Amino acid sequence: MSDSAAFQGPKGVPDYLPPDSAQFVAVRDGLLDAARRAGYGDIELPIFEDTALFARGVGESTDVVSKEMYTFADRGERSVTLRPEGTAGVMRAVIQHGLDRGALPVKLCYSGPFFRYERPQAGRYRQLQQVGIEAIGVDDPALDAEVIAVADAGFRSLGLDGFRLEITSLGDDTCRPAYRQLLQDFLFKLDLDEATRKRAEINPLRVLDDKRPDVRAMTADAPVMLDHLSESAKAHFDTVLAHLDALGVPYVVNPRMVRGLDYYTKTTFEFVHDGLGAQSGIGGGGRYDGLMSQLGGQDLSGIGFGLGVDRTVLALAAEGKSVGATSRVDVFGVPLGEQAKSVLVVLAAKLRAAGVRVDLAYGDRGLKGAMRAADRSGAVLALVAGDRDIEAGTVGVKNLGSGEQVDVAVDSVVADVLSRLSN
Ligand code: HAM
Repeated sequence: MSDSAAFQGPKGVPDYLPPDSAQFVAVRDGLLDAARRAGYGDIELPIFEDTALFARGVGESTDVVSKEMYTFADRGERSVTLRPEGTAGVMRAVIQHGLDRGALPVKLCYSGPFFRYERPQAGRYRQLQQVGIEAIGVDDPALDAEVIAVADAGFRSLGLDGFRLEITSLGDDTCRPAYRQLLQDFLFKLDLDEATRKRAEINPLRVLDDKRPDVRAMTADAPVMLDHLSESAKAHFDTVLAHLDALGVPYVVNPRMVRGLDYYTKTTFEFVHDGLGAQSGIGGGGRYDGLMSQLGGQDLSGIGFGLGVDRTVLALAAEGKSVGATSRVDVFGVPLGEQAKSVLVVLAAKLRAAGVRVDLAYGDRGLKGAMRAADRSGAVLALVAGDRDIEAGTVGVKNLGSGEQVDVAVDSVVADVLSRLSN
């Protein structure tokens, strides 16, 4: 490749360009809005953190930590990692700033990019965007239901409906160790290859997530956590489901769900969309009652979710739906001459100050080219003026839908446009 060859963006990272980027923004904002309506406060955190935070928080045996992290030494020889997910960083910040010493639960929401060195394919990116929430410090099944309902409401507010909520319980300290033993006893009796056996030793649940048909067949009758919950974990799960029923949030119990991160306890869930092919998870989350103490904080519980903005955009497209502005501006100015340009530049600024989206034809294009640009912008109205109009003290206000045009006194243009746009 010669030095002058054009650059390509990094592999597996999407660019969102206008006009489609409006979908991305509307999805992100719509999901965040659902969280804010439930009292979650915005938190902005570093894109990179101490590598050990993720190793300890997310779990050494996960693919995310063992294979997918963007880890490097900074110039001070510290090992840092581009955040692969948001929960560990939120927990670090909550502990560091003592938010857990104030009113509980601490309810936080965030959005932004996360980084995983995965094999890129449709819907699986190396820089992925999430909207997430975390509710920390209260172990109440009603809070689990709230978190799930916020995600459900966020998706539905975008018009999405071809998804389902899968839910299970992964138990807690009182029942998981015994279940783990039971599962290992089952797995060790199977004829597993060396790598899978090793996985069964380190994290037996992961074997239930194996996609190979022969392993699937062998593990079809494996014991599942849901059948071995302690009384309190079972009561918690049943209460979460009762709240979801009361809220009218539909779900299916999937006792074989395996999440990609190790911190989950009790309620665990995923939102799955069937229009997306292999990468069908549009969001997921759950409780992580041991995480705070594992990261050096108090022993407080927590629950949250991460929703995939990229995949939600794809899911909407799969449903043939669109959200967000379809037009770039409301008004497009077409100046024909220097004097007209000076006047329209000022009118554009005044209209913008009044909240109207305005663009202008720059570069002294002829009328035809400028009107084409006006049409392409999606504007409802065009302001068309030549120097002669300006001398007469007027600007032409043209309705780009009907083609109808009227002359309006320069001083009245802002008021005239505002009233036309509000009709
Ligand atoms: P996660 O399931 O790893 O959970 O990711 C959440 C969502 O991010 C997924 O459901 C998916 O929509 C999206 N996602 C993940 N990886 C990719 C990728 N490579 N390309 C495109 N989209 C992707 C978490 O990250 C947890 N922190 C969620 C959580 C918060 N649990 C408790 N609190």
